Amino acid sequence: MRISAKAMKKGMVRKMQKDRNFILIGYMGSGKSTIGKKAAKAFGYRFVDTDVCIEEQEGCTISELFAKKGEAYFRNCETELIKRLLSEPKGMVIATGGGLPVRPENAAVLKQLGTVVYLKTEPETLVRRLSGDTKRPLLSDGDLRGKIKSMLETRGPIYEAAADLCIATDSMSFYEMIGAIEKAGEPFL
Ligand code: S3P
Repeated sequence: MRISAKAMKKGMVRKMQKDRNFILIGYMGSGKSTIGKKAAKAFGYRFVDTDVCIEEQEGCTISELFAKKGEAYFRNCETELIKRLLSEPKGMVIATGGGLPVRPENAAVLKQLGTVVYLKTEPETLVRRLSGDTKRPLLSDGDLRGKIKSMLETRGPIYEAAADLCIATDSMSFYEMIGAIEKAGEPFL
C-alpha cells in the first residue's frame, strides 16, 4: 500500500493489517505525537502516547509527577508501561517520551514491540518549537539552545542505535513521513 497525499486527504487509505506496531522516538518537539496521530489514523491503528498513559495512570501532569515523585519514578513508569504494551494486541502507533529510549533496557523492549522510527529534527527547529514551552520539566530553566544541543549530543547516537529507520523531519511533509513509516514496516509482510 502506498499512501498518496490525495488519498489521505480524501480518507481513501486502505487500512493496514494490525499485525505490527510502529514506535516513534526522538527529542522533545520532534513531532512524535502529531505525526503518530496522523499515521495511526492513516493505518487504522490505535494511537498510544506514553506520556498521556502515565499522566492518566498517575492522575497528574508529567511536570507535577517530576515535582512530586522525581524523575527516577517517572522513568520507572515508562519502563513498566512499555513492558505492559508487549502483551497488548498489535496495531499500535506509539509515541514515546523523548528520554524513554535512553535507558538501555527500554531500547531493547522497543525493538521487541515493533518497528522503531527515529524522528530526527534539527536543533534550530527544536529551539523554535520549544521556546516558551511550560510542559517539559527538563527544559524549564537555563539556556534552551545550549540544553537542546548538549542533550542531542548524548541522545542522538542513542536514538540512532535504537531505531530501525531514521526520518529527517525538517525536509519532509506529513504525507512523506507517513509513507516512510509505512514502508519501514514492510519487511514484516
Ligand atoms: C522527556 C520528554 C517528554 C516527557 C518528559 C521527559 C525527555 O516527552 O516524557 O518531560 O526526557 O526528553 P516529549 O518528548 O513528548 O516531550
